[in-house]
Amino acid sequence: MDIVIARGGPDDFPQLLEPVLAAFGDSLNDEQREDIRLSYDDCHYVGARSAGRWVGTMGAYPFEVTLPGRARVAAAGVTMVGVLPTHRRRGITTRLMDGLLDDAAGRGDVLAVLLAMEAPIYGRFGFGVASEFTSVAIEADRARFTVDPIDDGELVLCDPIEGSKLAEEVWDRQRLARPGAISRRPWMWELWRRDREHDRKGDSALFWAVHLDASGSSDGYTTYRISEGEHRGLPRYTAKVVDLVGADADVEAILLRFLCSLDLVREVEIPLRSVDDPLRYRLVDGRQLQVTELGDFLWARILDVPRAFEVRRYPFDDALVVEVEDRFRPDVGGRFLIAGGPDSAHCERTDAPADIELGASELASLLFGAVAPSVLADAGRLRADDATLARADAFFTSTPKPFNATEF
Ligand SMILES: CC(C)(COP(=O)(O)OP(=O)(O)OC[C@H]1O[C@@H](n2cnc3c(N)ncnc32)[C@H](O)[C@@H]1OP(=O)(O)O)[C@@H](O)C(=O)NCCC(=O)NCCS
Repeated sequence: MDIVIARGGPDDFPQLLEPVLAAFGDSLNDEQREDIRLSYDDCHYVGARSAGRWVGTMGAYPFEVTLPGRARVAAAGVTMVGVLPTHRRRGITTRLMDGLLDDAAGRGDVLAVLLAMEAPIYGRFGFGVASEFTSVAIEADRARFTVDPIDDGELVLCDPIEGSKLAEEVWDRQRLARPGAISRRPWMWELWRRDREHDRKGDSALFWAVHLDASGSSDGYTTYRISEGEHRGLPRYTAKVVDLVGADADVEAILLRFLCSLDLVREVEIPLRSVDDPLRYRLVDGRQLQVTELGDFLWARILDVPRAFEVRRYPFDDALVVEVEDRFRPDVGGRFLIAGGPDSAHCERTDAPADIELGASELASLLFGAVAPSVLADAGRLRADDATLARADAFFTSTPKPFNATEF
């Protein structure tokens, strides 16, 4: 069976998506086909061909990803990964990833990022955990605040056109403050505006609540759906949050207070919150904010080590030498001096003795400050002496913690 790896173009829609649909046991109706065309046209595709048909698919969106210190880099957002069930485990994904990363590096992308369906798939390609998340559920009636947020602005329920315009402005400002956040592409907002029946999964249409500050400028928003329910004849609705984003913690608390005050709503579910979310500590009874899930979310793979570590910022001045074993792209790895601080950073290849030895996946976790070097050392995935680990933990840490709230 001859397999040829080729780039996919506009004329390969929708055939190029067949492997990924088959791999996920999915199919598209006309409306979904129309919707997915938007993202297809915004994506660099590679595919595997055999006997005149596509048997494997992989795409890359042109994202910008935030690194610690409000730094931004171009990143390939890897998506639509799938191989026909008849062609799996023959190295097709490995070859597609090779081609996709070559193309991304050629375009100047510093990173590739993705959301992994299953954790064991992508480590072999040099991807490591770049952000974690929690899902939370809050008993609305019990969400009293220790420090009530003062609201000298107002909340407005907007239609999708106005709401998405204001929300997008808030998002684009806020993503710069959060390592791991990605730039959202125009089609993402368009799909939320379209708000198709199949995206509602039995819940209400999407509501857009925007917070305006005292001067009337938008500084936060939440999008949510209402899920009807009852218990012994009494209403027990759930507000299911899609996004909750504020210019600061006070605005986010105002948005949560609003959701908890919705009539008929007894529970608020927020599927994606950062692990350093202060909302729990706002509540008199923090246990009412229950963590229903905790896990990895964004994965990253570095394509240009010097550029990635020069762009991010560090809590204080220090310098460490890392020896990186990159099995999938050996030319990307090697020994690097990383010298940086709060205002500037420098990274270059060096012959100096290494302080830390690690793999490409672990390096990606350090870039985002997602996992402490000492934790990776205890997991047997990084080598350094104890004194170096203490320095490296402090040097590579990120406040706030990396977090991505965008599915792609
Ligand atoms: C996951 C998937 C894309 C892998 O494609 P593939 O062409 O079979 O992958 P490869 O043959 O290149 O596998 C490379 C290696 O990864 C391993 N691997 C692949 N998928 C894996 C998985 N889901 N879990 C654990 N290991 C996996 C293979 O065993 C192989 O290991 P080896 O080199 O030690 O033999 C494919 O099975 C698929 O389409 N799955 C369903 C859809 C899906 O989960 N897509 C990913 C979305 S994030």
